[in-house]
Amino acid sequence: MPDIRGSIHGQWSSRFVFILAAVGSAVGLGNIWKFPYITGENGGGAFVVVYLICIALIGVPIMMAEILIGRRGRQSPINTMHALVADEKAHPAWRWLGWLGVLTGFLILSYYSVIAGWALAYVFRAGAGLFAGANAESVSTLFGALLDSPESMLAWHTIFMVMTMAVVARGVRSGLERAVTILMPALFALLVVLVLYALYAGDFARGAAFLFNPDFDKVFQHCELLESGVESCRFSGEPLLIALGHAFFTLSLGMGAIMVYGSYMPGNASIARATLTIVAADTAAALLAGLAIFPIVFANGLEPAAGPGLIFQTLPIAFGAMPGGQVFGTLFFVLLVFAAWTSAISLIEPAVAWLVENRGMARVPAALAVGAPAWVLGVGSVLSFNLWSGESFQFFGKTWFDLVDYLTANILLPLGGLLIALFAGWVMSRAASRGELRMGDGVGYRTWRFLVRYVSPWLVVIVFLNAIGLL
Ligand code: PHE
Repeated sequence: MPDIRGSIHGQWSSRFVFILAAVGSAVGLGNIWKFPYITGENGGGAFVVVYLICIALIGVPIMMAEILIGRRGRQSPINTMHALVADEKAHPAWRWLGWLGVLTGFLILSYYSVIAGWALAYVFRAGAGLFAGANAESVSTLFGALLDSPESMLAWHTIFMVMTMAVVARGVRSGLERAVTILMPALFALLVVLVLYALYAGDFARGAAFLFNPDFDKVFQHCELLESGVESCRFSGEPLLIALGHAFFTLSLGMGAIMVYGSYMPGNASIARATLTIVAADTAAALLAGLAIFPIVFANGLEPAAGPGLIFQTLPIAFGAMPGGQVFGTLFFVLLVFAAWTSAISLIEPAVAWLVENRGMARVPAALAVGAPAWVLGVGSVLSFNLWSGESFQFFGKTWFDLVDYLTANILLPLGGLLIALFAGWVMSRAASRGELRMGDGVGYRTWRFLVRYVSPWLVVIVFLNAIGLL
């Protein structure tokens, strides 16, 4: 079936490049920074099992849905939704889906850039040899010094945001293609080196058990000691929501990033095969990061639930002790920055593509128009770790950073993903989705349609209801 539209922004030069770009979007801070720390905070194995189930039953079908919608519309998510609403004669309210995604991406970018700034700061700390002979105490002091300095966090946040705007301003294709081809495999190789180090020097058995032995009671039972001395336990669905939200976050789903990359995908490439490759790479990166970090955590008596600073307080110990650690450490943080960079680009691209299409803007002012306000919002996240960390600056018991993270990852992305699944499964005609997936009418297509119509949306709804206590 021929394409029904073409993209004014150009196309990836091959399907392989689409996969690279999508892996670049998916693999980022979510895998290496966030996955280990939320796994640590949520008790390990059982959380990982729920996360993997969400990836398989929700992530895979919704990624296929998002790519197919993008490729069919061939425009920014906002205009793609307009076009498909017209094609399918759907209710005009569906057009808001594109806007929801743009808003979500903008909010995520605001704090993503702050954390990427930490990684940037660590490139120079590693390079200066500051990790040599590090122990639990010295790494925590070093990290604390960064958090306590709003000026330096602001400076790194600014540098990262400028880097992101610079690439998007030139067009995602130039540069990105070649860089991803070399740097992504390098990041994987370095993760493997770290896992080997953890195997040799860390408490690997305990780390792996923490990651893979599911103890469902530990994760889902929340017990309190009452005044009477009796322990009262109840089921808590919160970790379910966090695992679900993270499945969306780590795969870049639910806000149009994968949709906009799909709109640049060559018409003849297989969406199902690309999806499986992207998901496999993303999951591998997260599990490798977990396997590298937790053995070091346990061998050094660190706290798995240390929170957002976890990787910055564990990996430097490893780099400080391993032969060639200064080089490996520097390289690792360079690659982490790069992984974050390719993700940030995809966070901003849906909005920039829309400004170019609808406002006739050139890419440079369009990138500025989105990046500058995201930078301003990011200042709130910078201050969340120092001047605004106190209770008087908290909303619902959360700092600004926690709030934006919670709202985007646990509410807006799953909501966007739910609507994408409903649109692809219920609103789009069979002919349209089958034509775009190009996998005939066999088991593959039917399984996808069943999952996207009945399984993924219900699971998202059930987890939502559960988390707000209605189920
Ligand atoms: N998937 C990216 C990561 O894991 C983050 C991201 C989320 C990127 C949503 C784009 C859209 O770091």
